[in-house]
Amino acid sequence: MSTCQPFSIMRLTHESIRAGLNHLEMLSSNLTPATAPKLKAAFGEVKRVIELHANQEDNAFYPPLEEKRPNITHAFTKEHEAEHRAFDRLSRQMENLPEEASGLVEIQASMKDWIAQHRAHLAHEEDILMNILPKAFTYVESVAVVRSILEYDLTEFEQFQLGWVFERLKGPQRKVYMGMLKGCSPEGKFPDFAAKVRPYLNPEEVQAFEQDGLLA
Ligand SMILES: [Fe+2]
Ligand SMILES: [Fe+2]
Repeated sequence: MSTCQPFSIMRLTHESIRAGLNHLEMLSSNLTPATAPKLKAAFGEVKRVIELHANQEDNAFYPPLEEKRPNITHAFTKEHEAEHRAFDRLSRQMENLPEEASGLVEIQASMKDWIAQHRAHLAHEEDILMNILPKAFTYVESVAVVRSILEYDLTEFEQFQLGWVFERLKGPQRKVYMGMLKGCSPEGKFPDFAAKVRPYLNPEEVQAFEQDGLLA
């Protein structure tokens, strides 16, 4: 029996993004001129993951969903546009990190606003989509949609997003993610993906996943 839940990719990517936001929140609340470069680096990674995730949604996920259930995804695309603006502002602030603590207050305020905005976006997508997806797509259609999500920018997915997301998943989430990859990877790509996540696995996970055929 297949253990693949195709659309778990969206929910699990959200979970890793949430872990990234929590980390940014912690760095931002203890911000000093000395730690600001650390915040800048962490922000760069979270932004990079979110940008690919949003592009996958706008280009490979929402169009087929619109065909099945019109006028659902427009609100999310609008939220992505608002996010671009927040990213522009934060990126500018990160480019000109102040050398005095007093200058950091503005960055902390922007970071706080954006984190709240993005948490709301994740919850909004989940609230609306979770009920619709199982009814909108057959299993075979879901696999095809998720395959095209992975194919949207395969290089960026394989070189960055896959490892970043997987590293932040916990216990059972990792098994679900591997099952999704096994069932939905583009033709011939699963072995490469499995090799990419292997370094993040502890010995027990390697053994369990091998037993379940999730690493080959
Ligand atoms: Fe989104
Ligand atoms: Fe999303």
